[in-house]
Amino acid sequence: MRIAMIGSGYVGLVSGACFSDFGHTVTCVDLDEGKIAALKAGIMPIFEPGLKEMVDKNVREARLSFSTDLPTSIADAEAVFIAVGTPSRHGDGHADLSYVYAAAAEVARAATGPLVVITKSTVPVGTGDEVERIVREVRRDVTIDVVSNPEFLREGAAIEDFKRPDRVVVGAESERAKMVMAAIYRPLSLNSLPMVYVSRRTSELIKYAANAFLAVKITFINEIADLCEATGANVQEVARGIGLDKRIGAKFLHAGPGYGGSCFPKDTLALVKTGQDHGAPLRIVETVVSVNDQRKRAMGRKIIAACGGSVRGKTIAILGLTFKPNTDDMREAPSLAIVTALQDAGAIVRGYDPEGMAQAKPLLPGMTFAANAYECVTGADAVAIVTEWDEFRALDLRRIKTLLASPVLVDLRNIYLPEEVTRYGLTYASIGRPVRETPVAALV
Ligand code: UGA
Repeated sequence: MRIAMIGSGYVGLVSGACFSDFGHTVTCVDLDEGKIAALKAGIMPIFEPGLKEMVDKNVREARLSFSTDLPTSIADAEAVFIAVGTPSRHGDGHADLSYVYAAAAEVARAATGPLVVITKSTVPVGTGDEVERIVREVRRDVTIDVVSNPEFLREGAAIEDFKRPDRVVVGAESERAKMVMAAIYRPLSLNSLPMVYVSRRTSELIKYAANAFLAVKITFINEIADLCEATGANVQEVARGIGLDKRIGAKFLHAGPGYGGSCFPKDTLALVKTGQDHGAPLRIVETVVSVNDQRKRAMGRKIIAACGGSVRGKTIAILGLTFKPNTDDMREAPSLAIVTALQDAGAIVRGYDPEGMAQAKPLLPGMTFAANAYECVTGADAVAIVTEWDEFRALDLRRIKTLLASPVLVDLRNIYLPEEVTRYGLTYASIGRPVRETPVAALV
């Protein structure tokens, strides 16, 4: 099948590359000439494990191409995906749909025959109806079906998520559209993948409800972590104890510094607005949004407390800046609020991240950057692990202790066991776990 993907950002590029890997012929379109020129030269605009290899392979085999020319790209396509951005609108938190509507109108103008237009961008419930109205207004002479097909990709694991999804959700209002969608996903449905066919509005809401539910789950365990700290219980054991109940499930129960990224913060806010607009407020999600916002800055206070209550004039080393590992994405990263809180309290902050430093530099003025974890901690008064990159999971703690000016390790991702840190004479603070002090002399 011939597919055009409008928007070559995270979702568009990963989806386009994966569809071409299924055997479809895909053109990824973007207005950004620099991005398309780079993609043609084999340079990826984002860091995503396995993406470059997949793009190179499918370009070589002539199934994947890149273009800035939308009309030519959709000329003989049967399906056109819209995967443009839907950022939070300034001022009110609603999703900004202007790029989606503009893309829909342009696709309709350029259509040469019957077409299925599929929205992959995350859009509020009812957007498909507006897209349908726009394409009908622009072109009455061509049949254009409008479908919702949200994505559930996690950054850093996007290709795996695309190729082995838990489900594919399709919101289609016609049999023809359902058949086209079934043909597109046929390579996956051969593995008895659940295809969830629903109405377009339901599909749009499934996407927001899924992200909001996951954000609730994370925020719930984060608050339980606070209670663990107040009562001497262990949040990881609580998470395991509840997660083994299949009705709850073990995933997304890792307590941490609060969720960030390009999706949860934006989508929870947009869902809250949709609920308010429809007179059906989502009070749980509203609370989650504010609890999570406050938590990020509170993590700065946690580091300050671990330093004895003041960081004025002290140097704090931050390991991990991106909102999660295996990405260079800094959007809504907890590190942004944490670093600012530390700087506001008079600290000198030095950071290191394996992939995110180029993105972080303009966002974190006044912070200095180190070439690796050990350089970052040298002479610092405390080190805080903010993102759980693999390379921070097995640091040489003996060396860290020697390099630090004062031996304080704050682990906001619980990647170490308290006893393995304290045995090197480091003072350790983590999330929702009691620290059992081990006599240094006995173990070092
Ligand atoms: C999320 C969803 O997981 C995807 O299913 C969805 O498709 C995507 O948003 C989207 O809407 O496009 P992503 O933002 O890439 O994916 O990353 P997640 O792995 O979900 O992590 C989000 C945030 O939650 C990170 O800051 C992470 O550190 C945090 N998190 C996650 C926790 O603090 N604890 C957990 O147990 C899990």
